[in-house]
Amino acid sequence: MYSRLLCVCLAAVTVMAADPVVEDCILTGDKKSASEQAVLNRLAPLKHKRFDTTVQDGADSYTYTFVVCGGVQSGDKISNDGLVQNKTKTQEITVIGRVNDTHVLNGTDWILLIYKSGDKYDSHCDKEARKAMIMISCNKKTLADGFTIINEQREKMSECFYLFEMDSSVACPIEESHLSVGSILLIVFAVLIGIYIIGGFLYQRFVVGAKGMEQFPNIIFWRELGNLVADGCDFVCRSQPRSSETAYRGVGDDQLGEEPEERDDHLLPM
Ligand SMILES: *[C@@H]1O[C@H](CO)[C@@H](O)[C@H](O)[C@H]1NC(C)=O
Ligand SMILES: *[C@@H]1O[C@H](CO)[C@@H](O)[C@H](O)[C@H]1NC(C)=O
Repeated sequence: MYSRLLCVCLAAVTVMAADPVVEDCILTGDKKSASEQAVLNRLAPLKHKRFDTTVQDGADSYTYTFVVCGGVQSGDKISNDGLVQNKTKTQEITVIGRVNDTHVLNGTDWILLIYKSGDKYDSHCDKEARKAMIMISCNKKTLADGFTIINEQREKMSECFYLFEMDSSVACPIEESHLSVGSILLIVFAVLIGIYIIGGFLYQRFVVGAKGMEQFPNIIFWRELGNLVADGCDFVCRSQPRSSETAYRGVGDDQLGEEPEERDDHLLPM
């Protein structure tokens, strides 16, 4: 009973881990590349999203429809036409690329998605299969936007392609939010100050039995320090010292001799 339950759980976990999200895009090549699959997985947030762009070419206009890892023409059968051209006047459909022949590569701030196995050219490009390349550039402000066609390269003898571009945050470099050494030191410092104030406060209140402002740890020392700082400011910033007597008060040897002993008196064992 338990083992069966465990099996079900394990199976569920495995299914979740296998990331079914981009399975529709079939990577082709001699052997499956893990790094290519890793890049493809980054497109998961865009799965089955649909993008259109219309372009005027002389007297004709064409609409290109792109679906991320999915088919454009939804019918009874599962279609694999990931990027399709529709000639507006005649409604003539040409498949530019198919998701069962997907390739993907990436750089620091871009991902290039390639769908091959499109419909064959009638006369151009040695009658090879059409191919769509979609350049996805990093843009932190949008999940996916600005799908447009750059150009159709078909005057070559072979290796022709249709080039598209698009903005998306999925193409952005993966930022690991790690703290710098400086901020860690700052946090440690702040925590120590917190412990000092709270611990000192509790000690003064419950062990020494201080009341009011006197509960603040080492209050005499800090007041003295405050006075020193104030005197220092007075000395540095004031253009006309009020009098040399008060300006230098606090840094005199006489004070340094007495005060530190006084402020620690309560800490000494009785
Ligand atoms: C993709 O599917 C099409 C038919 O839908 C087929 O003609 C083509 O050979 C397939 N490509 C690959 C690489 O499997
Ligand atoms: C390409 O994507 C992979 C998988 O996300 C990543 O590990 C790698 O750093 C990326 N390459 C570059 C140059 O950013």
